[in-house]
Amino acid sequence: MTFVIAIDGPAAAGKGTLSRRIAEQYGFHHLDTGLTYRATAKALMDAGLPLDDEAVAEKTAREVDLSGLERAVLSEHSIGEAASKIAVMPAVRRALVEAQRAFARKEPGTVLDGRDIGTVVCPDAALKLYVTASPEVRAKRRHDEIVAGGGKADYTAIFEDVKKRDGRDMGRADSPLRPAEDAHLLDTSEMSIEAAFQAAKTLVDAALKEKI
Ligand code: CDP
Ligand code: CDP
Repeated sequence: MTFVIAIDGPAAAGKGTLSRRIAEQYGFHHLDTGLTYRATAKALMDAGLPLDDEAVAEKTAREVDLSGLERAVLSEHSIGEAASKIAVMPAVRRALVEAQRAFARKEPGTVLDGRDIGTVVCPDAALKLYVTASPEVRAKRRHDEIVAGGGKADYTAIFEDVKKRDGRDMGRADSPLRPAEDAHLLDTSEMSIEAAFQAAKTLVDAALKEKI
């Protein structure tokens, strides 16, 4: 059986950054599952299809190609908003979860990050991390990211957006965001990227040892 690491948490907690580093360190495959929702939303928007028709969205979700998804081409705010709307549809979730589970089986190991990996997609993962940080810190990270990229950013608007996204992620009926019972909590509010990586690495090494 392959070695699966499940990483969940709210927006801008540092899941993606941490997952990429872990995947690189251990030579594992990485899937940012948020991109599967974003790619489905973009495909609907590009085709001029409605975002509120569950059957249409499900069909589009089944056609999404998981190879080579890139955040750079899916990062637009409007895509994120649309993704968050279709993510509440059970049929869309079923379709994407199937594809995510198939990805998770790749050898020698996989890192999947999202909102429901430890709870729904890979409940038998060898290691589960729930990465979080305060809403203020997460809004600041998003703000700084935009400014570093040469864009203009309004902290207050981003902060409100982060809270709205948290409400939608934690409040939805199907697969709400919450830590799995056996997840290790990692609050990165006061942690550098390197410190978070070192903390995660200790947990991965222990889980790998246990598997042997
Ligand atoms: O994937 P997720 O939305 O959870 O977050 P991310 O894209 O990995 O991280 C959001 C931003 O926070 C990035 O610009 C990271 O460089 C930054 N970050 C940080 O400053 N400190 C951390 N401990 C983790 C992430
Ligand atoms: O837009 P943001 O960076 O906050 O999140 P994302 O990771 O890019 O995910 C896009 C949307 O898909 C969000 O609204 C998430 O709630 C949703 N999503 C989900 O429902 N389940 C996942 N496993 C991953 C993302």
